[in-house]
Amino acid sequence: MRLFVAVLPPRAELDRLTAWSEHHLADVPHPEELRWTEPDGRHLTLAFLGEVGEELLPELGERLARAAGRQPPLTLRLSGGGRFGDRALWIGVTGDTDGMARLAASVAAAADRTGIEVDRDRPYHAHLTLARGRRGARLRPWAERLAGFEGHDWTAHEIALMRSHPPTPGTPGARYRYEALRTWRLEG
Ligand code: 2AM
Repeated sequence: MRLFVAVLPPRAELDRLTAWSEHHLADVPHPEELRWTEPDGRHLTLAFLGEVGEELLPELGERLARAAGRQPPLTLRLSGGGRFGDRALWIGVTGDTDGMARLAASVAAAADRTGIEVDRDRPYHAHLTLARGRRGARLRPWAERLAGFEGHDWTAHEIALMRSHPPTPGTPGARYRYEALRTWRLEG
């Protein structure tokens, strides 16, 4: 199954972001070049594990529990945003970003020790993917608007092992669906 580990912002912050987007992004040109992520499934990825065999789940769980147990809760805020080329629009994170980076590294190390090869192609940059662009999408005007987004502080108390369900082929507009398999408290 396709897995990743994430921090899930509280519902109130996701709702704030959705409401802000509806209000502040409504007149940006070429919305047809974007595919929005499912508002309720938005998350901050710590590590992408890719395809993982079910037999590895018990050991992975033990190691993730240990990683979470060493990390105190994190005060975070969704703030600003930008784009990755023509590929994605993202919302940024402020607050204890050093803590997020440490947690991301220890989650990746937990997966490594379980024998799972973690995708480290991209340097770690905490973000929430808001939308993906079609090839050649003109994302600059969107990214400029995102700079104006400011959420409220919240505290991340747990990490979640997430399963990613790809969209059914041939279903227009279908999106990835994410399911939290297990969570562990941050209690360092
Ligand atoms: P993204 O939103 O920036 O694309 C589930 O796919 C989550 O894992 C997404 O948040 C995604 O980040 C992240 N991720 C990181 N590396 C990935 C990869 N190689 N393939 C798919 N998702 C990846």
